[in-house]
Amino acid sequence: MFISDAVKYIGVDDRGIDLFESQYPVENGVSYNSYLILDEKTALMDTVDLRGLEGWSQKLSEALSGRSLDYIVVQHMEPDHSGSLAYALEQYPDAVVVGTAKTFMFINQFFAVDISGRKLEVKEGDTLSLGTHTLQFATAPMVHWPEVMVTYESTEKLLFSADGFGKFGALDTEEDWACEARRYYFNIVGKYGAAVQTLLKKVKGLDIQKILPLHGPVLTENLGYYLGLYDTWSGYAPETKGVFIAYASIHGNTKKVAELLADKLRGLGEEKVVVTDLARADIAECVEDAFRYDRMVLCAATYDGGAFVPMEDFLHHLQIKTYQNRTVGLVENGTWAPMAAKAMRGYLESMKNITILEEVVTIKSTYKAENEEALDRLATAIIQK
Ligand code: FEO
Repeated sequence: MFISDAVKYIGVDDRGIDLFESQYPVENGVSYNSYLILDEKTALMDTVDLRGLEGWSQKLSEALSGRSLDYIVVQHMEPDHSGSLAYALEQYPDAVVVGTAKTFMFINQFFAVDISGRKLEVKEGDTLSLGTHTLQFATAPMVHWPEVMVTYESTEKLLFSADGFGKFGALDTEEDWACEARRYYFNIVGKYGAAVQTLLKKVKGLDIQKILPLHGPVLTENLGYYLGLYDTWSGYAPETKGVFIAYASIHGNTKKVAELLADKLRGLGEEKVVVTDLARADIAECVEDAFRYDRMVLCAATYDGGAFVPMEDFLHHLQIKTYQNRTVGLVENGTWAPMAAKAMRGYLESMKNITILEEVVTIKSTYKAENEEALDRLATAIIQK
């Protein structure tokens, strides 16, 4: 990937990883981005996961082409970016390490390398001249860890954005940016919307030509589109008008009600209705869709006095990702003592600004003609929201 004569991409694709962060399926892999700035001084912008050490270290050495490395800028210490930092620290012993106070605390926690005497601790707004290029640092705590900072390079107008604006998928994958960036955002950074909003305000006044994240492609055009999506996502506002129906069905009877409700909504003119089987879908996709749409319906069988486990698991995910500002309908099923609605309500009531529709539907084992009126009432209530 060509960025400019002075700024080299030296990141690596990882297509062999089974689960990113040991939880997210990445069918198309993931990239660990790393950049090298060549000026009077040279600066490395983050390293890569240890899994990519071999390819990355070779690219770094080739890009340096015999020059010394003057600075190692550490924007984020999570091991998918700092995994190869110990190598860089040892291989380039004269390089000064640039980071926030917490960065150095975390370096000491992760590595047994002594870097005293080669630390440059930076604070909000500090600058570092490399020659014609100047780096300006902006702290971005909790986007996605507390030590995070982003870096603006004012000559080429580059924003090195750390995890921000990242996406799943190796760089040679042809796929929609928003789909995998949204799944990445809500599952990894989603809890920290307020921190992202603060960062967006900081970068608002900057003239940015390119955004260089630590995962996914460098963004070079139509940057307002990406910034706008990040503003929507981090503001917990729905992105798309539509209904997300998530069901947790044991023997298929609750699933039938979910699908019937979807048909009814479509029949009433709802253009976007998405139905998902929580027991089988990627939970990260489900979290993404919950945040994407303005309304959600939860349909669950009763299980051990609560909601069927995939539903409880899903709601726990939404709870920790601070799901908020949405309208939610409930459908429960139970053969002798339906309890799923109560359990789902318990989770939802712990969340901020969730409107739970009064038209709760209770099914006893299977959907019957006598349930139709209640389901119609719920469908109408969803449409009217
Ligand atoms: Fe890509 Fe928070 O690490």
